[in-house]
This record gives sequence, C-alpha cells and structure tokens, in this order.
Amino acid sequence: MENKGIDPNRLAHVIGKFKQIFDVDPVAVIRAPGRVNLIGEHTDYNGYPVLPMAIERDILIVLKPRQKPQVRIDNTLSNFGARTFFLDQPIQPFHKGDWGNYVKAGIRGILDLQKTWQGFDAMIDGSIPPASGLSSSSALVVASALALLQCNRVDLDPIDLAQRLAESEKFVGTAGGGMDQTISLNGLANHAVKITFYPLAIHPVELPDFLSIVICNSMIKAPKTEHAMIEYNRRPLECQIATRILADHFSKLFDRPVSATRLADLDPQKLHISPKAHTRICKEVLQPEIMSLDQIRTKSGFSMEKLLDEFPLLRSCVDILNQKGFPLAARVRHVYSEALRVESAVQALLDNDSRFFGQLMNESHASCRDDYEISTPEIDTLVRIARDAGALGARLTGAGFGGCTVNLVETDLVPAFTDRIWHAYYLDYLVKNRPDIDSKGLNIKDVIITTKPASGARGFTLPDS
Ligand code: GLA
Repeated sequence: MENKGIDPNRLAHVIGKFKQIFDVDPVAVIRAPGRVNLIGEHTDYNGYPVLPMAIERDILIVLKPRQKPQVRIDNTLSNFGARTFFLDQPIQPFHKGDWGNYVKAGIRGILDLQKTWQGFDAMIDGSIPPASGLSSSSALVVASALALLQCNRVDLDPIDLAQRLAESEKFVGTAGGGMDQTISLNGLANHAVKITFYPLAIHPVELPDFLSIVICNSMIKAPKTEHAMIEYNRRPLECQIATRILADHFSKLFDRPVSATRLADLDPQKLHISPKAHTRICKEVLQPEIMSLDQIRTKSGFSMEKLLDEFPLLRSCVDILNQKGFPLAARVRHVYSEALRVESAVQALLDNDSRFFGQLMNESHASCRDDYEISTPEIDTLVRIARDAGALGARLTGAGFGGCTVNLVETDLVPAFTDRIWHAYYLDYLVKNRPDIDSKGLNIKDVIITTKPASGARGFTLPDS
C-alpha cells in the first residue's frame, strides 16, 4: 500500500494491536489530522473566517466492518479502555469526559443518512497531544464518521460532512464553531485554508517553503470537558448577548428592523456604516465595560426568564458567569478586529509579506489575551520567548486557556529557534514556575512540533495480508 503520509511502523503497530484484540485482519485505515489555527480565533461561531492548516499529527483508525449494527472500539493506549455501542438503538453518551463520546458524536452526525448500518471493530491510535488546542477531539469525531461511511460504502462531500460534524460534536458539550472539523476534512498539503462560514466554504492559500510553522505545547492542559468548557462556552454566549443588544440598537438607529444571529450579521459593510462609526457605536452601546446580568436585562428589556430562554448557554452556569460579569465591549472588539486581521493575513500570504503576517499574529495574540481573555501566564511567556528567539509571529492557537502556541519561523532558523525555546521554556521557566508539571520527563519532539500543512482526512483499504 502506498503509505499516504502514514508512518509504516506506526501503522504496523496499530494493525498488530487490532489483530491482538479482535483476532482477525483489519481491512481499512482512516487518517484524520489535527489542526493548528494560524489566525482567526473565536471568529468562526461569530460568522467570520479563520485561517487554519491541517497538521502532520493525526488520529488513525484501523478497522473491519461487522455484519451486526454494533461498534466496538479500542485504543493503543491502555488508559483509554474498550467501548461498545449499538447503531440500531438511540446513542446515549458514556459518562462525561469519556473518550468514546467523540466516536459517538461522529457517528451520530451521519446516522440519519440511511436506515440500517453495518457496524465495525476498530483500533484507534492518536499522535495529537490531547487537551492541547490541536483538535485531537475533532479529529476523532471526523475519523469515526469516516469509519462508518467507509464500512457502509457511503460517500459524502467533505463540506457537507464537516457541517454535520460541527453540529454533532456539540453532543460532547462545547458550543464550538465549524473550524476544526472543516480543516480536518479539507486540509491541503502545503496550504493554509481560509474557511468562511454561513455558507461553509474553503479557500486554500499556499504557504511558501521558506516559512515554517512551529507549534509549542505550553503543557497546560485545557480539556474541553472541564473548566475550559465553561470558559469556552461563555465566549459564544457573550457574543450572542452582545449581538442582541447591538441589533436592537441598530434597529432603533436606522428605524427599521435589523435582525442578526451573530456578530458578522452586524458587520459595518453590511450595515453600510464606516468602520470608525461602527467601533464608536459598539463601544458606546456596550457600556459599562463589565456588565452585570441586571444591566444586561435592562439593556435588552428581557425578563430573567426570557434571557435564560433566549440564551440556553446561560442557563447551564448562570451563577458562575454572573460572578465575573460580562465584558461585552472587549469581546466584540476582539471579534471585529480579528476578522479584519484574518483578511489582512490572507493578503499578506498572497503578497509573500511574511513580516506583516507575523505582525498580525502578534496583534491577534494581544487581542486574545487582553480582550478575549483566553491566554494564560505560561502561554504569554512562551510567546515572549518565541519572539526573542526570532519568530516572525507568535500567538496562542485554538480555544485557549492553555494548550499550544503557533509560531511563524523562517525555515533556516527552525533548529536554532527550537533549541532556544527548549532551554528557555521547558528546561527553565516550567521547572521554576510549574513544579507540578514533570518537565524532566518531556521529549523535545513531542512538545515542539514543526509541521508542514497536511492533507485532509481520508480512508484507504489495506492490502490482503
Ligand atoms: C475551538 C472550537 C473552534 C473555534 C476555536 C477558537 O477549537 O472548536 O470552533 O471556535 O476553539 O478559535
């Protein structure tokens, strides 16, 4: 078999594990990559573009179809135990945080395509560090859906599938946008991909060879099922509330109904007002800087009950959210400024202007840190060290609250850059400031990942053995 970008030793290992557990030969393999987002953070669910690329780290599923409508999965890592479920019964989640829920989410996303399904046995192996902002979970969702499609010989357009899986991943609990599933399915070798939403579309942009993307793992885990999930979900919620308050204001201002589901619906271009006037109005309307729930009620004219009905995300954790208050003006500032940075970054790549691209990444980081408040001290340190070590641009990537940074580095400088980061962050900063993290046990290749843009998820049949 042509190796399709899969390391033959790894594949042989996963096949070996499959045979050991299921006692037969597998017939197919699915590969779904993780992703790193170059710029455009928390813009997707607001209806604005993102610019990620698929990475060379992935989820592999080695499988064999079964006659029965039953799925049996196992993992090469023993801490993710075996799981089983049926396709002809309603698929309920395993307990919260269970890895099998991502498999179920992928499968639920396509189940309505036909009435009866053959199940499969599968051995799953991941090379994407989990809870690190590189979308290991979406890669598993994507790979699981492709596994079921492949076993049942059903074809689905990768854009349609991405749309379905963005919805179905909500089964696991986060109110994410569609970036992760779309790039895992639609990645393209040597290209970053601008993704636009509503309607979903992809626009590849070449990444020149002289530029490298280096990912550094802060080692602060941000699992989407715990604290990070509440913190993540409050961001879309705050944007939804801001959208509602702003739409009401614009309706009064223009003396006509202005309807909006997300912030992109209130873009200055769509409203035919200048960006400057738009910024001023958003600032004025969304005062005070940190709003209480009472102030939100007054501004929106909603009763508490109506507010909870209108914004279901609020209901899940209203007390926790209310303690901190709602910095709506800052959130909106981030989203509108980040949307502009994505457009400028795409243009910078097309113009071969890597310095400007790097500058935009740096500005994006500042906005994520100060206005969207999704950074951590460790991530900020990693970003600072990276810039000192020569990165053209450095920023947090993904949902935030820990995870990884993404760095734009001239290819020739990658070895020296990697060495500087390894010493300054992992061997010095982490050792001194985070003794709870076993930095001595780290392997440089696992925490500093240089990757080319990879192609999107695919399934292949295995030759008879
Ligand atoms: C998570 C979500 C994405 C996106 C990013 C932030 O990865 O799944 O949809 O919102 O966070 O940019």
